[in-house]
Amino acid sequence: MNGRETPSKRFVIRGGRVIDPARNFDRTEDIGVDGDRISAASESDAAPAAGEIDARGLIVCPGLIDMHVHLREPGAEHKETIETGTGAAVAGGFTAVACMPNTKPAIDNIATLQHVIERARQIGVCRVHPIGAITVNRQGTEVVDMTALKQHGAVAFSDDGDGVENDSVMREAFARARERDAAIIQHCEYKAISAGGVMHKGRVSDALGLPGLDPRSEEDMIERDIALVRETGARYHVAHISTARAVELVRRAKADGLPVTTEVCPHHLLLTDDACSEQDPNTKMHPPLRTAEDVAACRRGFLDGTIDCIATDHAPHTAEEKARGFLKAPPGIVGLETALALTCEALSEDGSIDWCGLIRSMTVAPASVLGVTTPSLTPTAPADITLIDPRKSWRIAPETFHGKTRNTPFGGRDVVGRAVATIVGGRLRHQLADEAHRFERLSPIN
Ligand code: NCD
Ligand code: ZN
Repeated sequence: MNGRETPSKRFVIRGGRVIDPARNFDRTEDIGVDGDRISAASESDAAPAAGEIDARGLIVCPGLIDMHVHLREPGAEHKETIETGTGAAVAGGFTAVACMPNTKPAIDNIATLQHVIERARQIGVCRVHPIGAITVNRQGTEVVDMTALKQHGAVAFSDDGDGVENDSVMREAFARARERDAAIIQHCEYKAISAGGVMHKGRVSDALGLPGLDPRSEEDMIERDIALVRETGARYHVAHISTARAVELVRRAKADGLPVTTEVCPHHLLLTDDACSEQDPNTKMHPPLRTAEDVAACRRGFLDGTIDCIATDHAPHTAEEKARGFLKAPPGIVGLETALALTCEALSEDGSIDWCGLIRSMTVAPASVLGVTTPSLTPTAPADITLIDPRKSWRIAPETFHGKTRNTPFGGRDVVGRAVATIVGGRLRHQLADEAHRFERLSPIN
C-alpha cells in the first residue's frame, strides 16, 4: 500500500547523515539491516547480494514515534481505521504510534485492548502502542483496572478528549499509575470552564461573536494535577500543551524535580486564533488555536526543553462532519502526514534547525514517556528507521493523504522536509515515489 514492501533480508543504508539521539550521534555513516534488526554495516555489506539504499543527502534516524493519535477503531471506522491510520503514519515517517482510547467501546477493558493489538498486528503497517483509559468508559468516575490493562499491553493511561475533573478520582488514578510505573497522559480541560466554547476565548472570538474556550480550563487542571503529582509521585504527561501559562507551570514543576513531561502539536507551534477568522471548521480543534504569545511560549518551551515531545493529536473527522459548520463540527485535525514538515517550519525561523533535538522529541522522548524500547540505530536494535530529506520542498495536498480524511487547515501550504522512506522491523513500508532512484539497488535476495 505505501510503496513497495521488500522481502530483502539484508541491506545497507549508505552515505546518510545518521542522527541517533540516544547516543548523541550525528555524522555520516552506513547503517546495516539484517532481517528485522540493525546490524553493523560491514556485516551486511559482506553478505552476498545485499541490497542498498542510497541515502546521500538524507538524514537517517530511528523511526519517528507519534505518541498522540486517534485511530478511531473500533467504533468510528468511517473516520479512520488501524489500517489507514498506520498507513498515514508511515507516509509521514512514523514507525510507531500510540493510539488514544476514545474509541467505541473505549479502551478501558482487556477485550477492546486485545482487539486493537490484534488488528494492528494483522493489518497495521507500523507499530501500535495502545493507551488505556484512566476511567471506565472515560466517564471520570471509576478508575480502570490498570494492572490488567498494563499486563495486556496498554503503555499509558488517558481519558483524552476529556480531562478527569474529580479530584479524588484523579488522586486514585495517580496512585495506581505510580504503582505500575505508567504515565498518566492528561487532556487538561475543565468543562465547567470551557463548556460551549468553540475556539480560543479572546479578541478573535469576541470579534466573531463565537463562544470562547478560556485558557484557564487547561491551566487550572495542570495546576491541580501537579499538586497531585507532588503528593503521589506519579509520572504525569500533559497532552497537547497550548498556553503560555501552561508551559510555565510545567517549567516550574520540572525545576522542582517532579516527573512531569509534555508534548506540543505542530499546529500549536504555527497557527494562532486568527486562523479561525474565516470560521473554517478545519481550524477547530481541542485545545484551540491560541494567541501569538502562546505560540511564542510553546516554541520557547520546546527550545529550552520544557516541552519534551512533538505529537500530532491526529484526529480524523469526515468532510460531512466538518461541513456542519464551525459551531457544530467536531474538533480535531489530521497530522500524521504533515507533522515533520510543519515542525521544521515552526522551529527553523532563524534558518537553521537543531535536527538532533527535533528527532529526539519525536523518538527517544515519547518512547521514554510511554516506557517502550529506546529507539536507536545501534546493532541488534529493532530496524525501525526513517529517512528524511531535510531540503525537500513540497506542497501539502490533502487529496493525496493515505489516511481516510482530509481535515487539515494546511492544504496548499508550501513546506520543506519530508520522509523519503520508512522502515518498520526491517521492512520498507513507505518510499517516496519521486525518489525511486535511491531504492534501485534494493533487490530482494530471496
Ligand atoms: C480529539 C478527537 O477528535 O478525538 N479532538 C481534538 O480536537 N483533539 C479529542 C480531543 O482531544 O478533544
Ligand atoms: Zn485531547
